[in-house]
Amino acid sequence: MSITLPEFWQLAVAELTRANADRRHPFRNVVIATCSINIPGMRTVVMRKFDAGQGVLMYTDCRSQKFQDLQSHPEQAASLLFWHPKKNLQVRMQGRVTLSVEDEIAKAHWLKVPPVSKRSYTTAQAPGTIIENPEAVEHDAALEDGKYFTVLHFQPHSAELLQLNRELHLRAIFHLENETWQGHWLVP
Ligand SMILES: Cc1cc2nc3c(=O)[nH]c(=O)nc-3n(C[C@H](O)[C@H](O)[C@H](O)COP(=O)(O)O)c2cc1C
Repeated sequence: MSITLPEFWQLAVAELTRANADRRHPFRNVVIATCSINIPGMRTVVMRKFDAGQGVLMYTDCRSQKFQDLQSHPEQAASLLFWHPKKNLQVRMQGRVTLSVEDEIAKAHWLKVPPVSKRSYTTAQAPGTIIENPEAVEHDAALEDGKYFTVLHFQPHSAELLQLNRELHLRAIFHLENETWQGHWLVP
C-alpha cells in the first residue's frame, strides 16, 4: 500500500485548505444538499472558508429554500460534495449547520463582503420569487445593513474520500470520534 489513511486524509485537507487562498480552486464551489420535505435539495455555493478543526463557512440569504430546509430539520443536517477534476478526488461530508443571522458572527462577516456582492442579499423580493423578467428585481437600500445575510457554519461528523487512479482506486470513510478523525478503507 503506497498511501496510509492519515496521508489520504491529509491530502484532502491540504486541497480544501488550498481553496482558501485560490479563488479558482475547484473546491471553492461546493454542492450543499439539504432535506426538503419530500426530496433532497442541492445547489452550488461558494466555500468562504475551510478550517480542518472548525469546518466550512458559506453565505446565503435567510429567505432561501436551503435556509428553510436547514431551520426546519431537527439536526440542521446537510451534506457537502466537492470534486477536483485534475486530481480525480471526490470529498463527501455529512454534518450539521449552525445558522447565523443578525448576530455578531453575521455582522462581522457582512463587514467583509464587497459592496457588489452585498447586492445579492438586498433584493426586496425573497430569492425564488416569480418575476416578470430578470430586470424586475428590486433592491432595497434599507437591507444594506445585512438583515437577510446569513453565515452557514457546517461542522462535519463524517467524510468520505474517493480518488480514482489508473492503477488503484482509493476510497475511505472517516468519522469524528473524540475530536479525532478515525478512518477505514472501503471498496471503491
Ligand atoms: C458558482 C455558483 C456559486 C454560488 N454561490 C452561492 C452562495 O455562495 N450562496 C448562495 O446562497 N447561493 C449561491 N449560488 C446560487 C445557488 O446555487 C442557488 O441557486 C440559490 O442559492 C438558491 O438555492 P435554494 O433556493 O436551494 O436555497 C451559487 C450558484 C453558483 C452557480
